[in-house]
Amino acid sequence: MVSLRPTQELYIKHRKELTDPWVGTGAMRHREMIAQLCNDLIDEWIDEGEIDFISRFARPLPQRVFAKVLGFPFEDIPLLEAWGNAVVIPFVHGTGLKHEITPDQTKDMISRLAGFQEYVYEQVRIKRANPQDDMISFLCDVHYQALDRKLTDLEIAGVVYAMIIGALETTQYALEEQAQLLCERPGLFEVLRNDRSKVRAFTEEGMRLRSPTHGLSTRMTSQDEVFQGVHVPAGSLLHLRFAAANVDPEEFECPFDLDLEREGLTRHVAFSAGPRVCPGANLSRVEQQVAWSVLLDRLSHIEYGEGNNWMHQPGIMLGTLKLNLKFNKA
Ligand code: HEM
Repeated sequence: MVSLRPTQELYIKHRKELTDPWVGTGAMRHREMIAQLCNDLIDEWIDEGEIDFISRFARPLPQRVFAKVLGFPFEDIPLLEAWGNAVVIPFVHGTGLKHEITPDQTKDMISRLAGFQEYVYEQVRIKRANPQDDMISFLCDVHYQALDRKLTDLEIAGVVYAMIIGALETTQYALEEQAQLLCERPGLFEVLRNDRSKVRAFTEEGMRLRSPTHGLSTRMTSQDEVFQGVHVPAGSLLHLRFAAANVDPEEFECPFDLDLEREGLTRHVAFSAGPRVCPGANLSRVEQQVAWSVLLDRLSHIEYGEGNNWMHQPGIMLGTLKLNLKFNKA
């Protein structure tokens, strides 16, 4: 049996105490808020008949949810988006196992992040003076058991920084690829409209087949290991290919089928696995399930629209830059 190292134990405490109540086990509390945001977005384009699904739904939804969860005003979303884009530069343009970027790219990234820390500090000041029911107010007030004290402003900014990397783009790509899976499988939209209990299976299979985070260098071996006959010395950096594991025929029967009846639907590793598994997985799952439930209520049919060029985001994520969809209003 593998025992946990002290840093891993601390990480698990960090999750349980600081992020789980909002984006982990506690994410279900956001269901109604997310449904409202979905309906608000759909109201903006329901009479248009054709839209770019990414800019009109898949991107703004996680942005608005994220702003609501943290307690940031909607008018600051362009700032959060710009900082989010800066934070992911290494994962989009970085090279090699360590996603290395050039000194010029590093300079660019730092200049684009200007104002981020001050912005969070200002929000912390506002929430300390006037606490609301949001994650920043919670982080300002929580007594962190692992350190037996409250968090400093810098520590709160650190939590928000990590959330920006995780929360903004990933769910966008999950929703966008799921829309493509529906367009490619005539009849599936109808099946889901008639039986909403299958929406969860659809989103899990969607993430398994089209893993938003294709791979990430996120583990280093602490001892010599042998993986599938390959000797890997201690201290090796591993680039984990979540997308490949999710279609491994030794793990998943007929791996390229989208199977709504598949056993062990959540066995995929789209969110990674182990003590450092994605802390926002539950929030994203709720977002995807609610998003499709509302879209199935409001639309009776979707198909590819005109002018899709299938240009993809470079880097470790799987997702197109735009996705034109035609739809019928329900
Ligand atoms: C479909 C959506 C998502 C996917 C596919 C995804 C995937 C991942 C993966 C593969 C990791 C790496 C875990 C590891 O090191 O083993 C990760 C980490 C992380 N994710 Fe997500 N994620 C998603 C949504 C979210 C959301 C909504 C949030 C926040 C609300 C979030 C926050 C984070 C954070 C903070 C980390 C870093 C954890 C650490 O440093 O150990 N993610 N995610």
